[in-house]
Formats: sequence, structure tokens, C-alpha cells
Amino acid sequence: DRRTAQEALSRLTVDVADWPQEGVTFKDITPVLADHHAFSAIITALAAAGRDDHGNVVVDKVVGMEARGFILAAPVALALGIGFVPVRKHGKLPRATHAVSYALEYGEATLEVHRDAIEPGERVLMVDDVLATGGTVVATRQLIEACGGVAVGASVLMELGFLDPRSVTGDLPIATLLTI
Ligand code: PRP
Repeated sequence: DRRTAQEALSRLTVDVADWPQEGVTFKDITPVLADHHAFSAIITALAAAGRDDHGNVVVDKVVGMEARGFILAAPVALALGIGFVPVRKHGKLPRATHAVSYALEYGEATLEVHRDAIEPGERVLMVDDVLATGGTVVATRQLIEACGGVAVGASVLMELGFLDPRSVTGDLPIATLLTI
């Protein structure tokens, strides 16, 4: 359940000081992924955001953001029995895309999605590991909407509350397992 997932996440995530640059503490989730029970628990917990109170699946697609988002979003899509869509960094997708540039906690980036990856009117859940400044979620929401989809919310493992991401993500519902 959710409590088990939260416990495993806080127990196995490793804080790496001053990486990838000074002043940033990196949240390394690779030990969580390497533990089958922990990985399974966090996927089930992340997928709960795509279900209603009766357990019915209420979304049509799961979008994952490169690169760590892929590791989580693909199994969430399988758990919900729906399709997975990758949102990738600039220049990686081979066909016609929508693109949005945005600021990261460190640096800047452009994200892209294939124009035909989401059908107009489809309800889309975003899945990622960390909500930091909120820029990635806001940019991904814009990509979903550029396709004509409806961004119904985001499901993330960790929210860095001290960066105040909710001030930029606005009214978008975001489910998080852990707030730091
Ligand atoms: C990290 C993380 C989120 C994003 C969150 O990805 O996986 O996608 O930053 O930051 P934000 O809320 O400030 O936008 P990163 O760009 O480091 O890419 P990676 O997953 O390829 O390492």
C-alpha cells in the first residue's frame, strides 16, 4: 500500500550532496529500483492517481518524462492497462513533434512529444520521479494540451517543497509520495 511505498522510498533513496553541481542535493532512487518489493510498491502507489475511489482506471494515456520518468511511467501504464507516451529531450523523436522550452532546477531544456502520440480529448496522467521547480511538469502539460489532450494530473515520487513547485504548477492535481 501507500504507506509501504513511502517507507521503502525514504529508506532506500540516497541523498548525494553537491551533485550534479555544488549546492544541489541529488535524490538517487536507483537503490529503490534495484529492490523488487520497493519498486513494485512505488509503481502501485504512483498508479493510484490514475484510478477513482472504486479502482476504475480514469485516464487514457501515461506520459513519462526523459529519462528517469520513463523508468516509472512505463510500468505505471502497464499496471493501468493503458498506453505509454515518452516526452523526450530535444532532437530524440524521429517524427513530427510539438516542442516546449523550459527552465530546470539546474540548466535549461527543450521537451518534445510526437504530435500523434495523444489523441484529441484523451485524458493523460504525467509520471516522474521528482517535482523540483515544477518546470518539467508545466512544459509537459503544455505538450499534452498542444496535442489536444487533457492533462488530468501528475504522479511523482518526491516533491522538493522548499523549491515551491506548486506556485508554478497552479491548479494541476499532483500526487506525491514524499515531500521534502
Ligand atoms: C529531473 C527529474 C524531473 C525534473 C524535475 O530530470 O527527473 O524530470 O528534473 O525538475 P523540475 O521540476 O525543476 O522541472 P532531469 O532533467 O535531471 O533529467 P533526467 O531524468 O534525464 O536525469
